[in-house]
Amino acid sequence: MNFEKHILVTGGAGFIGSNLCVYLVHKYSNYKIINLDALTYAGNLENLKSIENAQNYVFEKGDITDESKVNALFEKYKFDAVIHLAAESHVDRSIRNPLTFVNTNIVGTMVLLNSCKHYWQDNLEDKLFYHVSTDEVYGSLGEIGLFTEETPYDPRSPYSASKASSDHLVRAYYHTYNLPVKISNCSNNYGAFQFPEKLLPIFIHKIKNGEKLPVYGDGKYTRDWLWVEDHCSAIDVIFHKGKVGDTYNIGGFNEWKNIDLIHLLCDKMDEKLNREIGTSRESIIFVKDRAGHDRRYAIDASKLSNELGWKPSLQFEEGLEKTIDWYLANSDWLENVTSGAYQEYHKEQYGNVL
Ligand code: NAD
Ligand code: DAU
Repeated sequence: MNFEKHILVTGGAGFIGSNLCVYLVHKYSNYKIINLDALTYAGNLENLKSIENAQNYVFEKGDITDESKVNALFEKYKFDAVIHLAAESHVDRSIRNPLTFVNTNIVGTMVLLNSCKHYWQDNLEDKLFYHVSTDEVYGSLGEIGLFTEETPYDPRSPYSASKASSDHLVRAYYHTYNLPVKISNCSNNYGAFQFPEKLLPIFIHKIKNGEKLPVYGDGKYTRDWLWVEDHCSAIDVIFHKGKVGDTYNIGGFNEWKNIDLIHLLCDKMDEKLNREIGTSRESIIFVKDRAGHDRRYAIDASKLSNELGWKPSLQFEEGLEKTIDWYLANSDWLENVTSGAYQEYHKEQYGNVL
């Protein structure tokens, strides 16, 4: 079968990557999607069951820091574009083990950029390196203001510093070698297939099991939440219509203080689990704060909406309901990923307090 484009998606077995692969495979039968993923603790082929036999999809196991593997894939598939999501993505883990983040997020990005430069150097037309990044590169906001594309970088965790570094490298390849690149910086995603180390899936899991709910610090930290499928549609729009060399912020204009979000989640879950409303709130405990915890993130996504016409499709409460329903209906998925190594991580992270 002839495909119009061969697109390498890195990290396609993770949370956002698997949602993106499913989105692209269904929407673009004329594109072949090649998913390269090392299947770390966060990568899970179960997320991709719905497309595993699709004609326009193939999975390749491999590490983005492995130059010979990446080059072999460029030889094999002659990629027209790369959408780069593979990363170590959890802030708490970056505090415990920063070097892994430097390796995957910085060195891995370099390896991909070098391969693009090498294989595309004779014809850059219609080629694209699309780098998926985070709003955390901008640092921490006070009570007011929003991150725009012009906000100076000020990363504060090893995770965000490694993502900031990779963003700089991507821009350096654009300016120095004319590599066609686009970057997007997105706020907190939520939805199906998120690994239960992040706030929403771990709290859903704990509420279901009647376990303690560990809120870091005073709980008044603020995040801007976006449904993962809306992140995928934003990537789609930027990939096709965004300007080469540009950066786009993606967010839901949907800020929540952690404690307010947790209260809402507790009450919605009490309702769904036929418990008296208020039951789950009683399990909230305030624990030692995350080191260097960024106080507030909030994205100004007006460039994306004004220039490219993107808008989030879901209201937050609807998205949250869908998300809770998904985790409750997919308890096997949750049980499978919370055994083995996960238990050790959980003990290290929360051991003394839970
Ligand atoms: P995730 O941790 O769920 O998934 C990461 C995936 O990358 C996993 O499948 C893992 O196996 C793979 N991976 C890790 N190291 C690799 C390596 N060396 N080689 C190949 N594959 C490797 O992450 P996520 O939440 O889906 O985030 C995806 C991307 O989006 C990341 O770049 C992250 O920085 C960015 N991002 C995430 C969010 C969010 O809220 N989750 C928001 C904005 C941006
Ligand atoms: O903003 C985008 C970023 O969002 C992404 O780049 C990251 O990959 C992603 O992990 C996410 O980072 P956060 O640190 O904001 O997400 P996390 O789910 O870890 O935490 C959300 C908030 O909840 C944060 O203020 C810390 C708090 N928290 C988290 C956990 C896991 C708790 O209070 N208790 C917890 O047990």
